[in-house]
Amino acid sequence: METSTKRGSFTNGLGFVLAAAGSAVGLGNLWRFPYLAAKDGGGLFLVVYLVLAVTFGFALMTAEVSLGRHTQKSPVMAFTEVAGKKWSFVGWGATLIPAIILPYYAVIGGWVCKYTYIYFTGQGNAAADGGKLFFYNQIGLFLDSAENPITSIISWSPFVWFFIFILATFIIVYFGVEKGIEKASRVLMPALLIIIIFIAGFSLFMKDEESGRTALDGLKIYVIPSLDGITVTKFLSIVLDAMSQLFYSLSLAMGIMITYGSYMKKEDSLPKSINQIEAFDTGIAFLAGLIMVPTVYCFLGEEGLANSGTGLMFVALPKVFQGMGAVGNVIGALFFVLVIFAALTSCVSIMEAVTSTLMDRFHLTRKVAVCITFAEAFILGAVVCLGYNVLFFSATFANVSGGQILDVFDWITNSFLMPIVAILTCIVVGYVWGTDKALKEVSLNGEKFSRGKLFVVMTKYVSPVLLAVILLNSFGIFG
Ligand code: PHE
Repeated sequence: METSTKRGSFTNGLGFVLAAAGSAVGLGNLWRFPYLAAKDGGGLFLVVYLVLAVTFGFALMTAEVSLGRHTQKSPVMAFTEVAGKKWSFVGWGATLIPAIILPYYAVIGGWVCKYTYIYFTGQGNAAADGGKLFFYNQIGLFLDSAENPITSIISWSPFVWFFIFILATFIIVYFGVEKGIEKASRVLMPALLIIIIFIAGFSLFMKDEESGRTALDGLKIYVIPSLDGITVTKFLSIVLDAMSQLFYSLSLAMGIMITYGSYMKKEDSLPKSINQIEAFDTGIAFLAGLIMVPTVYCFLGEEGLANSGTGLMFVALPKVFQGMGAVGNVIGALFFVLVIFAALTSCVSIMEAVTSTLMDRFHLTRKVAVCITFAEAFILGAVVCLGYNVLFFSATFANVSGGQILDVFDWITNSFLMPIVAILTCIVVGYVWGTDKALKEVSLNGEKFSRGKLFVVMTKYVSPVLLAVILLNSFGIFG
């Protein structure tokens, strides 16, 4: 295990790609991407997303990974090294974000573990029949007849599942970059790919006997861009959705790609690795949509597609698995295992970003740093769980109406801090450190960087503007 004096590194380019893809591929791909695709008219959303991925996403990712590899440091020290002490606050911002995300990401990871257990023990039908209320009960929220939370019942289950999930994350991070993170990613990521391809292939041939709808009909909605009833406002809202999704999905602006970049060897190809990470991330998101959009359409119809929203994974999907009949429980179990793998590798990267900053900045050993991170996540995670019970509140917060602690944490990080840190990263890489130095880092192994110009234009001019739009949108400026 490495100590603070010896920095870990990935054994080769593939190790880096699998770990970074492990970070990128997470709940965002399996949950948020499909519901946005369903909401935003499928095909059109896909096209917009793809265009943004190879321009906007690519440039931000390149900026972060090159910064990390150049300095071989975690965010705070990396910003200090290239831009001086007065910019170190950007690094602190980038570290604060994973510290806030970690607890609630692990709480959701716990929900996924619980659903996996439910499917493995053959209770899938109860989840399907119980719908939203069943889901609420799993996360510790019980409602009375007037739909107010009953705070006298506290269920231990969400805490226990959260604990299992965060403990698994802790163990992987504890073992370090090569023996923990890389090793886990090398097993979990290929397994994830196999499971998702299998389920996608299987689910495309579903048919709902009652309505006569088939998944293949739903596939058309998902892949064929339709300009029916599209207005300028609607199009802009699709672009905004795609932009903020992309940025979250690639694990940008939270110090993770800087940290993982810092473990990358100088001789490995940076442009190639970034392309592979993007392809992996987008491919998995596409496949997740391929499982969900057509099957939800098949079993729940157009209406089901429009209404599933964030309830897609825990409320709509159980109904889809039920519609599949006898095999539904098995497919459901496999599906939730897939989600665990994806969420676990992401959660590992979040914990690693915080841990490595503690190690670098305070000269702690990995052991001590990871224990501190674990304790922080444990305490705040318990608070998040209680957010569905005694700490339940209903309030309107920025443009999020009605929320629990989890939503507040999510808003602070994704909608507020992340765009700000990303804008500052563009400024530092674009103007303070300089894109020429970043480009030099990218082509260090002598390779030509074909999208160099695009990277410069995006980082200096376009991305900051797009990010500012995301930020303003978080405050409901655009309605
Ligand atoms: N990128 C991950 C996803 O798509 C989410 C994530 C968020 C990962 C924050 C790391 C940090 O789910």
